[in-house]
This record gives sequence, C-alpha cells and structure tokens, in this order.
Amino acid sequence: MQFSYVNPTVIHFGQGQIGQISQAIPANAKVLVIYGGGSIKHNGVYDQVSAALQGHDWLEFSGVEPNPTKETLDKAVAIVKQQGVDFILAVGGGSVIDGSKYVAAAARYDADGWDILIGKHEVSAAVPLGAILTLPATGSESNSGAVITKAETQDKLAFLSPFVQPVFAVLDPDTMKTLPEKQLINGIVDAWVHTCEQYLTLPTGAMVQDGYAEALLKNLLTLGEQYAERDNDAWRANLMWTANQALNGLIGSGVPHDWATHMIGHELTALYGVDHGRSLAIVQPSLMRNQIELKRAKLEQMGRNVFGLAAGADLAERTIDAIEAFYLSLGVATQLTEHGGDKASAIDAVIQQLQKHGMVALGESEAITLEHSRAILTQAIA
Ligand code: NZQ
Ligand code: ZN
Repeated sequence: MQFSYVNPTVIHFGQGQIGQISQAIPANAKVLVIYGGGSIKHNGVYDQVSAALQGHDWLEFSGVEPNPTKETLDKAVAIVKQQGVDFILAVGGGSVIDGSKYVAAAARYDADGWDILIGKHEVSAAVPLGAILTLPATGSESNSGAVITKAETQDKLAFLSPFVQPVFAVLDPDTMKTLPEKQLINGIVDAWVHTCEQYLTLPTGAMVQDGYAEALLKNLLTLGEQYAERDNDAWRANLMWTANQALNGLIGSGVPHDWATHMIGHELTALYGVDHGRSLAIVQPSLMRNQIELKRAKLEQMGRNVFGLAAGADLAERTIDAIEAFYLSLGVATQLTEHGGDKASAIDAVIQQLQKHGMVALGESEAITLEHSRAILTQAIA
C-alpha cells in the first residue's frame, strides 16, 4: 500500500441542505446553473436553488442530456467565456455533473474541449464548481472524473482532473422522491459495480479498503432486498451516502483497479443507448466468468463476506451467480438485446470501438485483450 489521499469536496448531507449554497458560493461570483431536461422543475429543487441564489448574480443553462454530449456542452462553454462566469453550479445526476466538469475545464482552454478527452490537452485550470445531486449513482459529486460523449462519432470517453473536483456537494435525499424506478435501480447497480471495480481484483490484504468495500456491497444488497421500503427516508439516505462513498477515492486508495466492465459498458451505451448502470449489468457477469482464474481469490472473499456463501471448490462460480441473481432480482437484464438482432455485427462493432479507443489490455492484470473482450461479448450479447 502506497498512496496520497485527499477528498477536498465539502459534503452537505441531509434534508433541507440545498440552502447551504448561498454561503458555499462566493457572494461576488457570477454563477452559471447547469441542469438537465427539467426534472428539477418538478420536484422543488429549482425553486430551492433560485431562492438560495437570490443574493447572487446568476444565469442558467439547461438541456444537458443523459450521457452528456460535447455538442450540447460546447454551447455552455461559449456562455461561460462570453459572460465571464466564474462559478458553475451543477444540479442533477451524474450526466449534469460530468457535463459541468467538461464545461468548467473547456472554458479555460482556447481550443476544442474534446482535446481533453483524447489526451491532447491536460487540464491545468477550470472554473470552480459545486454540485447539487439528485440521483445517487456515479459518485461524480465528489470525485474528479467525468465521462463525455461525442455524438458525431459515438465516442464515450473519460477524463480525470483535480481541477474539476467539486468544491462542495449537496446530498439531500428528498431530491430522490421524483426519481423514476429505472433510475433508482440504475443507481444501485452503478454503485455496486464501482465498488466491485476497486475490490474484485487481486488479493492485497488491504483490510480497510476491503472491509469498507464489503460494507458498501452489503448495504446495496440490503437496499435491494428492502426495495419495497424505497419511500422511506432512511432507505433513501443510505443509498445516497453509499453510492457517494463507492466512488470518492477512499476504497480505491493503494489497491489495484479493474474498470474493464465500465470501459466495455461505455461502448454499449455509445453504440446502442443502453443506460450506464444497465450496460454494467450486461458486461460484468460474463467478464467475471471470463476472468475467473485471475479473480478467484477475491470472488471467494466476496462470496464469504458479502453473500455469506458456504466454502467449496466452486465458491467463486457461485459468487458470480449470486451477483447475476442480484441484478435479475432488481429486474435488470444481464444480456444486451438492444442491438437490432444481428449479434455478430454487434460484437464486431463493439470490438472496433474498443480498438479505436485503445482498450486492448483492460483489467487490473491487463489480461483482457480484444480476444477476451470478444469472448465476453459473445456471452453478454443475446
Ligand atoms: O435531465 P433530467 O431532467 O434531470 O432527468 C434525469 C435523466 O433523464 C433523471 N433524473 C435525475 N435526477 C432526477 C431525475 N428524474 C427525476 N427526479 C430526479 N431527482 O434521470 C435521468 C438520468 O440521469 P443521469 O444523470 O444520466 O444518470 P446518472 O446519474 O446515472 O449518470 C450517468 C452518467 O454518469 C457517467 C455515465 O457514464 C453516464 O454518462 N458516469 C460518471 C462517473 C463519474 N463521473 O465518476 C462514473 C460512472 O461510472 C459513470 O460512468
Ligand atoms: Zn459507473
């Protein structure tokens, strides 16, 4: 174990916390409020934001779509540049927060913001941003990552920069009350897979990271089992805090990371429009079966400590079955069906995109070559 760790995002957690933004945003800042397709207009969040920003000079940009595109976001970049915006407030789910991170960084760069995603420009400055989270899933509200799509070429790529880490995040579980069931379930799956990406790798004996990851996984399993309780304050608060902790840097400190499920999943979203969480449930069980020998020890540990399975030579196999059963219990499919019926062409299309994006040696052991990705997709695509 060797790492430097800081999470500088101030979290304001709990009911009624949106009002905190009036203090958290500098009084003299010119603020751009960025949001999505309008859900915040139907649950009182927009009204709370307007009330809290009464003393501020602010303007707004709406229409950030799920899986945000650079084409849309570049319009907000132009506003920030033209209007001299010096603080961005993202109000929404992971897409709005990720999109705001792109806007924050691209507005402090003189050429095409897409350069950030292809590694041509390393972010060295960004407009400071804060977030009001309305969908617990990605952890974007207190991490330094963002995933952006270029619609024109169906490229969905990620970037990381400490400059775009939100300075504060408001997590008010009441904002979840209007979430469609599908999004609520997507959030459970996404948080689950984030934990797995940092845990289901190689044994390291990192007791804090493993133990905390197991606690988060058990929470998600319990929240899934208690799904009928989802209108209860404690259920909502526990999901919101668990999803945040799953990708805020802590459990990933000083341990190997996988992220192959995410990289292959991003291609399914870019090509076939599958929701992010659902893309992960499609890829992960097949990927685990493909990588079972490298991951056997951690799968066995998960089987024992998270699912409470009995010892045995096939414990790792039974753990993967339990993960898949968890998704199915939530009504989430574990095979891709949205590909228009031509399985062979779909596999080829995904492999081509993986190759184009340099995703040719994925996973903690870099063992997932295109050949393995092809085998995984053969199982994962119906
Ligand atoms: O746009 P609005 O109208 O707000 O509606 C959204 C959207 O249609 C709706 N929604 C959000 N909060 C709501 C609500 N509807 C009613 N009530 C509320 N309280 O939900 C829909 C989906 O929102 P979206 O932000 O797309 O979902 P999510 O939070 O799952 O974000 C997914 C995006 O995050 C990226 C994904 O790739 C995807 O693009 N990720 C970002 C990560 C990060 N930055 O660390 C890591 C993740 O692995 C992930 O890749
Ligand atoms: Zn994710």
